[in-house]
Amino acid sequence: MSAPLSTFGVEYRAGTLCMEGVSLAQIAAQFDTPVFVYSRAGISNAFSHLDQAVKAARGTRPYTICFAVKANSNLAVLNILAKLGAGFDIVSGGELARVLKAGGSASKVVFSGLGKTSAEMSFALKAGIKCFNIESEAELERLDQVAQQLGLRAPVSLRVNPNVDAKTHPYISTGLKNNKFGVAFDRARDVYRRAANMAGIQVAGVDCHIGSQLTDAAPLVEAMQKIVGLADDLARDGIQVHHICPGGGVGITYQDEEQIRLDAYAAALQSALGDRPVELLLEPGRAIVGNAGVLLTRVEYVKPGEAKSFLVVDAAMNDLIRPALYQAHHRITEVAEPAGNDRATYDVVGPVCESADVLGYSRELSAKQGDLLAVLSAGAYGFVMSSNYNTRPRSAEVMVDASTAKLVRARETIEELFAGEQAIDEA
Ligand code: LLP
Repeated sequence: MSAPLSTFGVEYRAGTLCMEGVSLAQIAAQFDTPVFVYSRAGISNAFSHLDQAVKAARGTRPYTICFAVKANSNLAVLNILAKLGAGFDIVSGGELARVLKAGGSASKVVFSGLGKTSAEMSFALKAGIKCFNIESEAELERLDQVAQQLGLRAPVSLRVNPNVDAKTHPYISTGLKNNKFGVAFDRARDVYRRAANMAGIQVAGVDCHIGSQLTDAAPLVEAMQKIVGLADDLARDGIQVHHICPGGGVGITYQDEEQIRLDAYAAALQSALGDRPVELLLEPGRAIVGNAGVLLTRVEYVKPGEAKSFLVVDAAMNDLIRPALYQAHHRITEVAEPAGNDRATYDVVGPVCESADVLGYSRELSAKQGDLLAVLSAGAYGFVMSSNYNTRPRSAEVMVDASTAKLVRARETIEELFAGEQAIDEA
């Protein structure tokens, strides 16, 4: 193995792939496969790295890093981040319930997403969240009503669409005009004026999010400059915002992508903000957890084919859908370091009945039946996007904490999968 493995703390020790010295073979033996394995230190380090970069740029000016819960919502992950002082960016009542259960503080929660229900609004208002990121006038009107019914005022940012090209995969690009997200930039000032006159609304901030897995900071900075300009226009209209948020989007290295330099990114955001008396919010997801997790899987069969050969493994697109959905590349490596040079080229595929059920195309691997493979950089948008397709129980999740491995979510049982179902005729 020559190229360094991108996932935190993952390296070969005495011929076995380890995470922070804990043998991944041992974890597979103890918890079975497929299993997601996360590193507590990997999560903490990534958070602290960003936190320190922002702190250095902001000095004594206020800021909050709100982890995008959608990237990895396991209670253990949220609890680690809550203890480090993180806020949270949520997109559903379910995510708010998780944050509260994990010890997160509602006062540091921002609620994104374009389809909030009245029940979700009411739950979040009663919990006392920091801000609602509103994506349409209809949503604003509904929030106004719900808040008034509760005798409350809802703190609000508009998620504006700055029409900046994030230059990322179209499915994870969100800041362009033809996109379902956000309020059109040119409409925003009018909508803010309306919001400022609503009895149930308190204007609190300006927000945007242009896309995910960005490897260049320039579009993020351009978006920031636009929304800071909008905040200045609002101030001229007599509407003073308390915070400004350029969203998430900082990418990670899956293969050989350049990573955005966090100190330069934070400095550029700060230079856009200058001395404006506002709090800076960020909504990073992937950058905090993406390279703090792997998916361990076992080879069920080696299947030589006419045109290509396959490693049929016990993890599938229902466990990690990113390759199937976004043609995403995750490195895959052997858990037992190959001694000789007996690698061959395989497509690594799951057992699901879909041709798209491929975890990696044309990988040079040395593997036989029963061997373990690690799919790297699987800490973000991995387990959270998993499903029960083909009646496959969702996998277990394990956290490596210093030298120990702790189960943080039990593998689902097959009975659990149909516990809520019933036949209409007797069996
Ligand atoms: N804020 C908002 C409003 C978002 O919609 C997102 C992600 C984030 C923050 C966090 O973005 P991040 O820092 O993680 O890039 N499932 C896709 C990614 C979808 C991202 C959706 N929104 C994937 O696996 O690549």
